[in-house]
Amino acid sequence: MKSCWVIYNGSLISDKFADQARLVAEAAERAGVRAEVRKNYEVMMDLQRGIGSKPSFVVFLDKDILLATWLKASGIPVFNDPEVIETCDNKAKQYIRLAAEGIPMPRTVIAPKVYPAFSIAETGYFERVLADFGLPMIIKEGHGSFGAKVYLIETEEAFFEKVESLRGVDFVFQEFIASSRGRDIRVNTVGGRIVAAMYRHSETDFRANITNGGVAEPIELTENQQHLALEAARAVGAEFAGVDLLFGQDGPLVCEVNAAAHIRNIYNVTGINVADAMIEYILEKLP
Ligand SMILES: Nc1ncnc2c1ncn2[C@@H]1O[C@H](COP(=O)(O)OP(=O)(O)OP(=O)(O)O)[C@@H](O)[C@H]1O
Ligand SMILES: [Mg+2]
Repeated sequence: MKSCWVIYNGSLISDKFADQARLVAEAAERAGVRAEVRKNYEVMMDLQRGIGSKPSFVVFLDKDILLATWLKASGIPVFNDPEVIETCDNKAKQYIRLAAEGIPMPRTVIAPKVYPAFSIAETGYFERVLADFGLPMIIKEGHGSFGAKVYLIETEEAFFEKVESLRGVDFVFQEFIASSRGRDIRVNTVGGRIVAAMYRHSETDFRANITNGGVAEPIELTENQQHLALEAARAVGAEFAGVDLLFGQDGPLVCEVNAAAHIRNIYNVTGINVADAMIEYILEKLP
């Protein structure tokens, strides 16, 4: 009998993460796999003693990239691959990949690294970015979820305040796609196939995330949207992906690709349990 671990981050107190792990573990059990939900710190990364008894595979729902890397190095198949998790975990890094693959996305400039004790405020760099993008624009931190680190910058004062406060942090400047204000599409893909999609919209915020007050409904994707979602997942190498699409003037644009997309909301909205598709995909792939 096959066995698996479903790993999530135990330092996060919100039940969302444990719930997501349970959804995947239940899907594994339904498919006849013995499943164990584990918090990341419940797997001791003891490099000398090793891992002990190994599961047949791991579904990794966390961003503890070191743990994912170590599990893979110990010979366990890890989904998504740790490198994919790492690419997607940093929005700047994933935009480099998406752009290199020619994926349509909002115009993006990656901010240079600035050491926290220093500043490039006097160099004219930020003035150049401001003149180039104009306002409003988006500033987005490399690491952030649920829309928490995505900012709509509407004044010069807010712009300079924000870039100063982000010294030492990875972030990007991005064109604000006004035609998509408060609206996006979440597409869950598994192994090069679209499994579920929902349209999210908010009347109160420029971000469509449900956590920010957005509401969601099922959506029939256009061919363009389907193609772009699959291309984006492929570009970052994600076997499982939650791709966010924006409504551009001339067609869909990729907002971001999530490697460990939450699946509860899309389940509630569409009745589709993405976890079943994930487990089915893994079982087909494994020897
Ligand atoms: N360039 C943009 N133009 C218009 N709206 C944007 C843009 N970038 C992001 N948004 C809006 O902000 C929301 C959050 O942005 P994004 O998906 O990049 O980060 P996140 O939601 O924090 O990440 P996660 O999906 O991992 O929680 C998007 O769903 C979208 O509604
Ligand atoms: Mg998002």
